[in-house]
Amino acid sequence: MKEDKDARWFELECVPKEYIFPKEYRPQNLDSPVCDSIPVISLAKSKAENGHSQPVEEILKASQELGFFQVINHGISEKTVTDAMNVLKEFFDMQAKDTTTKTAPHKKGYIYTNSTDFAKDGVHLWRENFKHPCHPLEECIHLWPDTPTRYQEVIAAYIVEIQKLSTRILEMICEGLGLEQGYFKDTSEVQFLSSNFYPPCPDPSLTLGILPHVDPSLITILYQGGSTGLQVMKDGQWVNVGAIPNAFVVNIGNQLEIISNWKFKSAKHRVVTSTHQTRRSIATFVNPSPNCIIEPAKNLVNELEPTLYKASQNLVNELEPALYKPSQYKDYVLHSNAFGDDTATIQNGLR
Ligand code: OGA
Ligand code: NI
Repeated sequence: MKEDKDARWFELECVPKEYIFPKEYRPQNLDSPVCDSIPVISLAKSKAENGHSQPVEEILKASQELGFFQVINHGISEKTVTDAMNVLKEFFDMQAKDTTTKTAPHKKGYIYTNSTDFAKDGVHLWRENFKHPCHPLEECIHLWPDTPTRYQEVIAAYIVEIQKLSTRILEMICEGLGLEQGYFKDTSEVQFLSSNFYPPCPDPSLTLGILPHVDPSLITILYQGGSTGLQVMKDGQWVNVGAIPNAFVVNIGNQLEIISNWKFKSAKHRVVTSTHQTRRSIATFVNPSPNCIIEPAKNLVNELEPTLYKASQNLVNELEPALYKPSQYKDYVLHSNAFGDDTATIQNGLR
């Protein structure tokens, strides 16, 4: 091992034992080829041919089958995204160097997790993470880091664009599901940002960047800077999400799975590490407002009174009972411990 006292926690020749997951969690078959089964959807305007436009059809299909897709031609400028990636890189670099600026982690809703924070049963994840609330932007922005100096300006510009993109995607989802336009309008906000830094790891077969989970969001929009490592569970197998420069990865969160009455799937995903690549990602969680009641959309449910039920046995295939009970989003978050150890802090920051 290197003796350099300035070395960062990951600059090692072997994986320290606190980062080695029990066998059942360790990733396997890491050398299998990248499987490009995650649909890549162009949002460029396309003519509607009797029915939905092509992106709507593709989003509908991907959300039903896998719950993950990538979008290209999304209209967000490369500069907005590169600026955000650069300022976050600077932020993480500063955490490593300067102990006096170790964020202001106790401001409302702020969470900086370095690699020594426990993830599961005392094992550490191979990553650093920084999360904070984003909504309402004008109230949150001054609680964000003021170093790097451009942090607030650059990240606010990024969030504004992500909000527009998410509105657009949710409108297409409304159309695809046959929900009235604006169904999500007042209840979907980019509530918080979670950025990740996954450094190279001496032995990826022993470690994980993020444990398998589903997102407690409506949708999550992730930028992964053309890097690999994200994997999605598909038919019982982990498949890789391909590295596509300038694309955003969109996944269906479990709140949209509920609203769609399980027509859409919220897929389990995780991040594996790499010996040579540094992965940086920005996840933005588009969530319902805390007081919003989440339940299957009324016009996706078709239930009959029990007395009518018998008479309609021949209609049984058309019945679509609600598969989930209504719950306020904030109760859901609390009861399901949606953000693990960070749940209470995040909950306090949600508006
Ligand atoms: C998440 C997540 C994946 C990534 O933050 O929920 O799944 O690539 N992130 O960072
Ligand atoms: Ni996730």
